[in-house]
Amino acid sequence: MRVLVLHGSARKGGDTDTLAERFLAGMAEEGRHEVRHFYAIDMNIAHCRGAACMGCGGDGGSAGCVVQDDMQAVYPALREADVVVLATPMFWGYMTSQLKTLLDRLEAAVSPAYFGGKDFVLLIGYRHYYGSMVEWLNRITRAFGSRCHSMACQTYDPETDRDIPIAESPKCLEEAFALGRQIAASCSS
Ligand SMILES: Cc1cc2nc3c(=O)[nH]c(=O)nc-3n(C[C@H](O)[C@H](O)[C@H](O)COP(=O)(O)O)c2cc1C
Repeated sequence: MRVLVLHGSARKGGDTDTLAERFLAGMAEEGRHEVRHFYAIDMNIAHCRGAACMGCGGDGGSAGCVVQDDMQAVYPALREADVVVLATPMFWGYMTSQLKTLLDRLEAAVSPAYFGGKDFVLLIGYRHYYGSMVEWLNRITRAFGSRCHSMACQTYDPETDRDIPIAESPKCLEEAFALGRQIAASCSS
């Protein structure tokens, strides 16, 4: 199976990278997979110019994005992937701006060829709220007949007003592992 992991955090090895690592470890229990990682923070990705450009034709795929930057490696990786993992912290009520910039550029790929028939997995770290992310991915996957899986780990204790390192949340790590295992098993059966 081909797995694409889009990392949204600027913190390497932080909460959401760790969730992704556990998820992949769970998948690996069910067999070998080809995994590609993209760390949005390290990539040169221009903003989508939207209606000021429309070089992609606005029809989701035939022309592709005319902007030549690191996104050109993401398009084929997305197209080929069976499982697409989005690992991101919540920042100001949504995904990080790095990941959002990457996703905006997928406007050039909004078609069944890129979004259909896949398992999309959302791995979220958050302090207070994560619903906006789940709602968004549910809508996208429903539109393309893909499957949506999400798990969110609260990395904050409101009672003590303290951030909780992910290593202190074994339940979340186990949940991510189990989700990886479950998806790998269901995809290969
Ligand atoms: C700048 C900033 C903004 C944040 N905004 C939110 C937010 O709007 N909602 C929320 O629930 N958590 C918010 N958080 C908490 C992070 O989502 C949380 O700490 C997450 O586990 C960090 O994951 P990471 O280690 O992968 O970067 C914010 C954290 C930072 C640093």
